[in-house]
Amino acid sequence: MSLQYRFPEGFWWGSAASATQTEGAASDGGKGKNIWDYWYQQQPNRFFEEVGPETTSDFYHKYKEDIQLMNQIGHNSFRPSISWSRLIPSGTGEVNQEAVDFYNNVIDELIANDVEPFINLFHFDMPLELQEKGGWESREVVEAYTVYAKTCFELFGDRVKKWFTFNEPIVPVEGGYLYDFHYPNVVDAKKAFQVAYNTMIAHAKAVKEFKSLDVKDGKIGIILNLTPSYPRSQNPADLKASHIADLFFNRSFLDPAVLGEYPQELIDLLQEHGQLPSTVTGDAELLKNNTVDLLGVNYYQPRRVKAKESLPNPYSPFMPDWFFDNYEMPGRKMNIYRGWEIYEKGIYDIMINLKENYGNIESFISENGMGVQDEARFIKDGRIEDDYRIEFIQGHLKWLYKAIEEGCNARGYHLWTFMDNWSWSNAYKNRYGFFSVDIETKERTAKKSASWFADVSNNNGF
Ligand code: BG6
Repeated sequence: MSLQYRFPEGFWWGSAASATQTEGAASDGGKGKNIWDYWYQQQPNRFFEEVGPETTSDFYHKYKEDIQLMNQIGHNSFRPSISWSRLIPSGTGEVNQEAVDFYNNVIDELIANDVEPFINLFHFDMPLELQEKGGWESREVVEAYTVYAKTCFELFGDRVKKWFTFNEPIVPVEGGYLYDFHYPNVVDAKKAFQVAYNTMIAHAKAVKEFKSLDVKDGKIGIILNLTPSYPRSQNPADLKASHIADLFFNRSFLDPAVLGEYPQELIDLLQEHGQLPSTVTGDAELLKNNTVDLLGVNYYQPRRVKAKESLPNPYSPFMPDWFFDNYEMPGRKMNIYRGWEIYEKGIYDIMINLKENYGNIESFISENGMGVQDEARFIKDGRIEDDYRIEFIQGHLKWLYKAIEEGCNARGYHLWTFMDNWSWSNAYKNRYGFFSVDIETKERTAKKSASWFADVSNNNGF
């Protein structure tokens, strides 16, 4: 077949999901509470239409059916996460056998359906008991995570060859400690930097454990949401604003994960403002010696910035936003439901940056996708005709293809997400899946994009 975009042999086609957003069974199967269960109990009004994480899409009970559907639409890989509070209900201590059975079944079912499991260990879902001990502010929790990670490698490492320590570790920092959209709803930059730093230490400790186990053919990585910072203009003031935004929101995790050290400019800036986190002897060496093999890149939107219009109030709490204002580019293309700009070339710019500045590390697009509200409007003959999603994916794949042609080491593309899921505080407002989910009956129905993606995957291009 003549294809315009033929991807390299063995390209990873699939999707990503997370435990809290899909499993449901939040209080079944011996699962302990995590921060989402707790926050919803405390403040249901903070969630769209007051829908909480209790049942979500019920993957816990319907995984077999779902995995068969993955196979039918040509997935050769799928990235779910393990729920820490399901596996180890208190965060430390006893392992829950029902959870071990569940994850074993999921992994075995994936493999039986020719879908390679890419397993992520942490997707925003801190066990409640550990949050009560300080969450990522606490080094005790870092140690608990290291034990949890090692437990997972030992339990499932015989079959799982691609592991990820964290998904978007900056999001709990932004949501939980800067901008109030995750529990514990703290607004305190100093704490935010400590949380960010400790997360990276937990990550490096997990990488170290993984490497010491010497899992045959195993790779370990991290999944980062990279958001290129584009300046409004080439004026030095705008350039500086975008440079600082990049330090805070990309390089704060990308540099230590891939290069094994923090950018000196970021350290200097935090020091100047009295915001440096506390560290422990040996941390720098730990980071240096435990960089990742593989990088997952989540890309949804660019960040456009400009120099500040007015100086920040020196008496206001320190925030990264002291250094830049967001810039609304005239004529930008928007996903109006999520309020995110669509800029397909961003994916190319990220890949070129990885090639030029990060040793062309092996990478893949681990999330990209389009959440749309009220998709029932688009039903024709019983099927959601989501041409806008197909267009969105195509637009991004074209730029990914160009990056690969220019020598970037991108190995796959995963959509967010396989089936409509519970999107944190947006609950089921915006739908992202190849399959729609009826939130009452849990029935799954393929959208047009599902059969389109099956063709792309089967042809290894389009
Ligand atoms: C990513 C996350 O940030 O974006 C997912 O890894 C999330 O967990 C996805 O669901 C889409 O964002 P949202 O907020 O619309 O669900």
